[in-house]
Amino acid sequence: MSEATPEIKKGLVGVYADVSTVSKVMPETNSLTYRGYAVQDLCENCSFEEVAYLLWNGELPNRDQLADFKAAEAAEREISPALHRVIKDFPHSAHPMDAIRTAVSFMGMEDPENADVSEAATRRKAIRLLAKIPTAIAAAHRASKGLDPVMPDPSQSFGENFFNLVFGKVPQPEVLKAFDVSLILYAEHTFNASTYTARLVTSTGADIHGAITAGIAALKGPLHGGANEAVMHMLKEIGGPDQAEEWLSTRFDHKALVMGFGHRVYKNGDSRVPTMTKYAEKMAEVVGDRRWMETSRVLATKMLKEKNIHPNLDFPAGPAYYLMGFDIPLFTPIFVASRITGWAAHVIEQAADNRLIRPLSHYTGPEQRPVPPMDQR
Ligand code: COA
Repeated sequence: MSEATPEIKKGLVGVYADVSTVSKVMPETNSLTYRGYAVQDLCENCSFEEVAYLLWNGELPNRDQLADFKAAEAAEREISPALHRVIKDFPHSAHPMDAIRTAVSFMGMEDPENADVSEAATRRKAIRLLAKIPTAIAAAHRASKGLDPVMPDPSQSFGENFFNLVFGKVPQPEVLKAFDVSLILYAEHTFNASTYTARLVTSTGADIHGAITAGIAALKGPLHGGANEAVMHMLKEIGGPDQAEEWLSTRFDHKALVMGFGHRVYKNGDSRVPTMTKYAEKMAEVVGDRRWMETSRVLATKMLKEKNIHPNLDFPAGPAYYLMGFDIPLFTPIFVASRITGWAAHVIEQAADNRLIRPLSHYTGPEQRPVPPMDQR
């Protein structure tokens, strides 16, 4: 006897899985707030470190609180000699997302409070993750090119330190500001796939390193964080604005996805895109190369006109990072370096009012049957 099919929300579209006080997306007004502050406002008035503090503590820091927070992060940037050795042994062909996923898992095994899932220990581990993730990303990237790691500099801001770890130098203030803005925009976005993954792992009582390792695995996918890399590969394949219309028409003919467009929640535009586009344009001016932004403009215009689909944050972030000088495989790891803030806020929130996350599946396979003997299979 077949049972009635329950209503299935494929992809959990439109399902409210829990309450949260971390951030709010309002698709009807294209807006996004972190703890009640509009993300555009945070981008123009705050540093990434202030936003990280806000996400973890619910309020913006005062001067002393910010100084303490920055000092705590800066003090934890070094990774162990053992992790440096493991990173050196990673296959040079490894994708940096696989490298940072493995490095975070390793950090969990080394962490002195690994098994302590109390809120106080989780907060201390979150700071260590925020501080060490850039060091591990950059060390793996440099090792893949046969270069020695650059040691973290505790006197530098989070953004300065990131550039220094990757390139061995710090860029001009306009570049640092655009990078900081991208980190703020990438920091948090409600129950997206990687955040929900981190919450699900946390709901089993597992530790934050496990939750973040799983979050990184989810973020790598091209339908999620991997899109910022895919966007830049696409722009390079197109080559320039003159080829963009024809390239897109061929894409439409094949009914293929166009990376950096569409969003599960925003259907009338991603609230983060105007701010990131403004700073990507600034990068194009600084570098003196308008090709990628011009190509992007042609694509966005045609996508909207013919498909009514808007770009998402990955669309301007991809060329912005490229213009800052980052290799394409580093784009999604940069997203990790930022999103650790949102993930950790959700891990803390989930653990504070936990119930094991365990949905149901509606079985559609064969009816129950006896196991046939081997000679009858
Ligand atoms: N390119 C071409 N068509 C797209 C598209 C894109 N980037 N995004 C959505 N569509 C189409 C879908 O194919 C679908 O068409 P159909 O009705 O003919 O089947 C229609 O638009 C509606 O899609 P929707 O149901 O709203 O998508 P979703 O919510 O399941 O998926 C994404 C959302 C983000 C996974 C999807 O837009 C996508 O794959 N985008 C490209 C990857 C990307 O940029 N990801 C980063 C997200 S921040």
